Amino acid sequence: MESAFPTAARLGLHVPLYSSLLLNALFLVHHFLSAPPAPSPLLSKANNGGGGGGALSWALRAAREAESVAKAGCSGHGRVFLDGIVGEDGRPGCECNTCFEGPDCSARTPDCTVDADRGDPMFLEPYWMRHAEASAVVVSGWHRMSYRATDGLFQSVELKRCIRRLHRAVGNAVADDKQIVFATGSMQLINALVYALSPDSNSGSTANVVATTPYYPAYRTQIVLFDSREYKWAGNTSMWAKASGNSTTKEDVIEFVTSPNNPDALLHQPVVVGSSAILDHAYFWPHFTHIPAPSDADVMLFTTSKLSGHASSRFGWALIRDEKVAKRVNDYIMQNTMGVSRDTQLRMLAIFKTILANLHGKEDIFAFGHDVMRTKWRKLSAVVSRSRRISLQNIPPQYCTYFDKIRDPSPAYAWVKCEREEDSDCSDVLLKAKIITRSGVWNDASSRYTRISLIKSQDDFDLLLERITEFVDAELTAAGSNSM
Ligand SMILES: Cc1ncc(COP(=O)(O)O)c(C=O)c1O
Repeated sequence: MESAFPTAARLGLHVPLYSSLLLNALFLVHHFLSAPPAPSPLLSKANNGGGGGGALSWALRAAREAESVAKAGCSGHGRVFLDGIVGEDGRPGCECNTCFEGPDCSARTPDCTVDADRGDPMFLEPYWMRHAEASAVVVSGWHRMSYRATDGLFQSVELKRCIRRLHRAVGNAVADDKQIVFATGSMQLINALVYALSPDSNSGSTANVVATTPYYPAYRTQIVLFDSREYKWAGNTSMWAKASGNSTTKEDVIEFVTSPNNPDALLHQPVVVGSSAILDHAYFWPHFTHIPAPSDADVMLFTTSKLSGHASSRFGWALIRDEKVAKRVNDYIMQNTMGVSRDTQLRMLAIFKTILANLHGKEDIFAFGHDVMRTKWRKLSAVVSRSRRISLQNIPPQYCTYFDKIRDPSPAYAWVKCEREEDSDCSDVLLKAKIITRSGVWNDASSRYTRISLIKSQDDFDLLLERITEFVDAELTAAGSNSM
């Protein structure tokens, strides 16, 4: 039988081997646990801060501070942020979710009006709390102080690589043959792209910018705001899709196509043949929609606001086939903001890496997001199906190439229609039921429609469901008493 302890003879034989293994192990431990070389002894001394953590020096205080605020529970109905308002105890306090209050957010605000208006993507916050370690970033005081980033201008080459990898892995867009241009949210790209696709200012012609109703209102509001000699807002596509024989050629039309659409979640294609189309794919990710095939349009728009939920970081990007168009967009961004914050790019790199590392695994962000959004849609649909006063858009289950199966609908927004003749202002009808929504008038649609945001926090959704249930119950009670 083999002894559990090596004999002296064996030990003697293996001493050089063991000591070499031990030395290697010590070397590796030292390599991974020791702090990176400080930029200068002076800096290292000044920033040591007495951390005494052995491995870490200047990052320790910031890390402790970040973890200490993250620990605050706020009863599960709020958050403490590092930059929150400092209270009497010298520490930032809880910021409560809507309809919750008190120092620890444990009290429900009586008779509260629910806010289902904004497209605030807080539904992904629990995912990032689960992935706190992988997504955390330490930003040193001297991190990229220059205007310039790794491409010699203002874009991180590594981040661009991650974006291409993600499109390839998700299969939602062909990115490899396109230029990538970063922007401060995709919001900045709306006017930048219209500028880049418009005729030269010397040509004397003016581009007509159009979209199909119901459309995302920022296309109209931005183009009206920046109205110029080269382009103007020209309203709904219906006029241009039909128009023939008028003085405007289709080449003078720039068409915004939102797919899936905000507000009604339908997938769309350009309708004005020959126009320059801008495919806004803010929601073309598997947590919101099925992916039938990769999009390969000449100009496509994306944003982390709806991909990962980091709306606050203000990061969007365009995929552009034509180099000249990409250059004009770059010129615009250069003139406008000199690129995207390098701090944001660093944070986004960690976010993309975390997403990529978990694709198709049990912590896949799209599986998580789809599950949350599908559950919300199911619950809302079940309540609304009992009503004859309001209805929702119809979205069938569809085959998704990413999940490789038929997936249930999980739209970002509910597009609500008020069915009764007298309910011509649907957002007002719901406001009376203590639900704030966004009237269809914003989308150039009828006021008979209104948008309910489903991408906010779970608290927001639970309260919304409560109010909608009360609204439908009241309708059924009234209908019951009328029929007696
Ligand atoms: C269709 C669409 N495009 C663009 C945006 C702008 O996104 P961001 O500026 O946050 O990147 C939004 C935001 O709601 C949107 O719904």
